[in-house]
Amino acid sequence: MFTKKDTVKAILRNSELNLKEMGSAFAPSNIALCKYWGKRDRELNLPINSSLSVSLADLGTATEIKLSDNHFDEVFLNNERVSPESRFYRRVIDFVDLIRPSNDLNLKILTFNSIPTAAGLASSASGFAALTMALNDFFGFKLSNEDMSVLARMGSGSASRSIYNGFVKWNKGSNENGLDSYAELIPTVWDELRIGIVEVTAEEKKVDSRNGMNQTVETSHLYESWPKQAADDLDKIEYAIREKDFELLGKTAEQNACSMHATMLSGFPPLIYWLPETVATIHKIHQLRSEGLPIYFTIDAGPNVKILFEESVEEVVKNQFSGIKIIKPF
Ligand code: DP6
Repeated sequence: MFTKKDTVKAILRNSELNLKEMGSAFAPSNIALCKYWGKRDRELNLPINSSLSVSLADLGTATEIKLSDNHFDEVFLNNERVSPESRFYRRVIDFVDLIRPSNDLNLKILTFNSIPTAAGLASSASGFAALTMALNDFFGFKLSNEDMSVLARMGSGSASRSIYNGFVKWNKGSNENGLDSYAELIPTVWDELRIGIVEVTAEEKKVDSRNGMNQTVETSHLYESWPKQAADDLDKIEYAIREKDFELLGKTAEQNACSMHATMLSGFPPLIYWLPETVATIHKIHQLRSEGLPIYFTIDAGPNVKILFEESVEEVVKNQFSGIKIIKPF
């Protein structure tokens, strides 16, 4: 069986260590228009289906890495020291342990998130992407984006897509070793596209995506239909991006998200990330759409709603959804 360590060995086989004083990187968060939901290999974090996302401009994670002055690793999140007992610290250091060339290199890792951690806004995506890129910079490995995407994927699947800015497709790959499971940029620029984030809550969710998707795959009968639907949706979304067909993009993304949530709901115990405000926002979007406003939504493993629309209706959307945060991805 191929392990995470084997993957790192394969990726770093031609890289030399060229330590810098400080490594740094920024990675944007991303929202999947065609969702990744379900793993075929938990050790390597390989997905059952391919997925496609759009990045969230300056919402994301900036990471800086230096040598620690102490004989232990230090992790800071938004200028606050993170307890070595916390899950956050463990996930970061387990990942660093995979990649650092020697255990004598104790690191000080400073992470700055411009998004609420774990509120369904994919902070693990930008977090592991920024960490991978900052490690690559700090150690001077000069890795390609594809290689960094493979590494980031092992931290968190959606992180494989946060290596890039813009529309990004993560090919599920077919090799058992996972080396062909990485993301690539779709080089289309869609200037008019907007994403509005309706933040229902900034509270941490009770079941994270990882446990949520494993539970769904294990217990939902509806999950059987998911891989095929995701493959069809991905084709449609790629076509919609190429043709700048907003209606097709919006419809497909909305149906894709609802189908994913249907698989969660049909597992046991049923997984319901939506809160009453989530449902109210969905009804409002549908009402406005029936009145002629071209807006659609997508929702990840959390209660927050992301509204998809184009520049021409930005003012109307702003007035309809108070407190909405509008992002211009391009
Ligand atoms: C619903 O990438 O957070 O946001 O690979 O276990 O870390 P792990 O899961 P994660 O799952 C993201 C799920 C999603 C859909 C998506 O972003 O594609």
